Amino acid sequence: MRGIMGIRYFEEEKVFQLDSKDASYVIALADEEQFVGHAYFGRKLSDCHVRHLMRLDEGPFVPSKNNRDRAAFGDAFPFEYSTHGVGDFRESCLKVETSRGHEACSLVYRSHRIYDGKPALEGLPATFGTEKECSTLEITCEDPVLQLEVVLVYSVFEDNSAVTRSARIRNRGSEAVYLKKALSACLHLDGLDYEYITLHGSWARERRIDRRPLTHGKHSVSSLRGESSHQDHPFIALLTPGANQDSGEVYAMNFVYSGNFLAQAEGCQFDTTRVVMGIHPENFSWKLEPGEVFTCPEVVMVYSDAGLGKMTRRFHDLYRGHLIRGEYRNKKRPILINNWEATYFDFNTDKLLSIAKEASSLGIEMLVMDDGWFGQRSDDNSSLGDWQVNEDKLAGGLKRLVDEVNKLGMKFGIWFEPEMISPDSDLYRAHPDWAIQIPDRTPSRCRNQYVLDMSRREVRDAVYAMVKAVLSSANIEYVKWDMNRPLCDLGSFCLDADRQGELSHRYMLGVYELQERLITDFPHLLLENCSGGGARFDAGMLYYSPQIWCSDDTDAIERLSIQEGTSLVYPLCSMGAHISDCPNHAVGRITPFATRGHVALAGTFGYELDVTRIPQADRDMIPSQTAMYHKYNDLVRTGDYYRIASYSENRQFDCWEVAAKDGSEVLVTYVEVLRRVNFKSRTLRLRGLDPEAVYENEETKERYTGDVLMYAGVQVPEPWGDFGSRLLHFVRV
Ligand code: GLA
Repeated sequence: MRGIMGIRYFEEEKVFQLDSKDASYVIALADEEQFVGHAYFGRKLSDCHVRHLMRLDEGPFVPSKNNRDRAAFGDAFPFEYSTHGVGDFRESCLKVETSRGHEACSLVYRSHRIYDGKPALEGLPATFGTEKECSTLEITCEDPVLQLEVVLVYSVFEDNSAVTRSARIRNRGSEAVYLKKALSACLHLDGLDYEYITLHGSWARERRIDRRPLTHGKHSVSSLRGESSHQDHPFIALLTPGANQDSGEVYAMNFVYSGNFLAQAEGCQFDTTRVVMGIHPENFSWKLEPGEVFTCPEVVMVYSDAGLGKMTRRFHDLYRGHLIRGEYRNKKRPILINNWEATYFDFNTDKLLSIAKEASSLGIEMLVMDDGWFGQRSDDNSSLGDWQVNEDKLAGGLKRLVDEVNKLGMKFGIWFEPEMISPDSDLYRAHPDWAIQIPDRTPSRCRNQYVLDMSRREVRDAVYAMVKAVLSSANIEYVKWDMNRPLCDLGSFCLDADRQGELSHRYMLGVYELQERLITDFPHLLLENCSGGGARFDAGMLYYSPQIWCSDDTDAIERLSIQEGTSLVYPLCSMGAHISDCPNHAVGRITPFATRGHVALAGTFGYELDVTRIPQADRDMIPSQTAMYHKYNDLVRTGDYYRIASYSENRQFDCWEVAAKDGSEVLVTYVEVLRRVNFKSRTLRLRGLDPEAVYENEETKERYTGDVLMYAGVQVPEPWGDFGSRLLHFVRV
């Protein structure tokens, strides 16, 4: 046995055991050929003897004992990284095409390496940790016929039950080989008695929780939109039947990537389940020249033995501690006011300053100037790509505006959409070939814009130079990086015919490279990603920006479901959430200003309205709301999140809670969506408290023990009127 921290190799048994905080992941080598198989993922084991789970002593047996049925073995063995073409007819992770047109590939173990720490993935976002915090196993496999090397990379964290995976594929042969499919992870579960959860949506209604039973066949969600998308999400969780917030087993996979993806659970013929995740094989191929390496993006796998709640808290801790970077990762964010829903394109310096002046007097700390400040942009038909300040709107220039805002004691932020180009722009007139398009085919417009070919360095350099010049021209402390359309008409003027299939992934690598440049050159900048609302709210983007705009739907009631689905995986500190005006611009609903504040408090918290024009009563509430943010944000940002009740499920009320990690306080948010008549108060059972400690309700001064609050519950009268809400703050005495 040889091992480092959580990873051990048992030589005799040919077993790798990867132990994280409270889960074990076991890989075993099988047969004389040393196929790399999956034995176990679940509750932590004290013993590595789980080879029997691979059923190697049952028919069709391993090839060394029964070579006549090698293909049948291939179709039953739980491969750690499945390959196409030699008998495994389930979903493959790897499919190649050789210069002679053959597609088969088969991988066997060659060597391994265990070490402290975790390698960065070149050009890609990934979780990270120090040598004390995590350890890594690299298993080098080979297809001897193709001379193709595949290194399977696994890391485990000391303080989390997550296992991360990726793969590096190297061509050691003398001819180019084409990757037709290179997924990142494959997981086998015994049985198929599972339910599975995915996150589904559309523009303005992102990440609604879908839950269904698993059956035989393939069940997948995916994106081919060049973005992780509004519609589906790179997340899948398998649950033991009936698993809820507190009980049942959960196996979850989340992709640290922002482009096309496939997430699939497959109920197989022997009632086993194969789950795969990676870059979608459609719109993908990659030419690998001799010596070249392709790196698959990272997949995070989380196991929970205590329901969805624990899975959620594992993801939150992992992303807060090991994915989000930069100055703001552990810091309160300035309370911003964004002018998009306040003015849309109709603004000038005076208008923005009048908003800033009023806002600063109410405790708002940053003005964000949204779309419309550049080129000739007076609506969404032109000027993307012309990142020069429109001085007709901003009289005296950008610096003057920023200086005036700074004088009010506020920071200043700005909107960009760097990946886009309007057909009506100077940039397009000068470089029509910079847009993604197929020769002789008019590219499809979307919001009257095209997508820039971010696979090209000269395009990235030119756009970045413009962005950098603007950011260097004044004291700009925040950027909202938007991306408002999907990719189609895939064609690049700079890629050879046999490399056109690389465009979608090269595009993502280009975007990541640009964002890395931005945060390196401007280390104090607060970056917020956005994509027509939340089409790129994913773990890939979180590596570059500590917060992401969650949805263009700012209605407090719609936000209950959107934020519930988003917070299933992502920490509250990453969810862009604003208080906006009513009737709400997306749904026309009128909700109390206080409820809008309570819902936004579960995110980054900010405003998106014309503060000079809202009702006086609402305006009067802002100082107490900003004080509320300052009082609770440390807890909301760092605490443990518990889902108490779901409006999406019960269609009546919503309730969530954030408990301090040391059990010293808890903040409960309760929203009664439609006021019921002639009912008693609601009982809310809290979670995550010290059962023996005494807690005081800060408002009523009533005292309860933690066990009473958790097991018996506390009663809350329903607020008067529809869409009412309450905050309950309990502090340990
Ligand atoms: C997207 C964003 C909005 C706003 C507009 C501007 O839709 O999600 O918040 O910035 O673009 O055009």
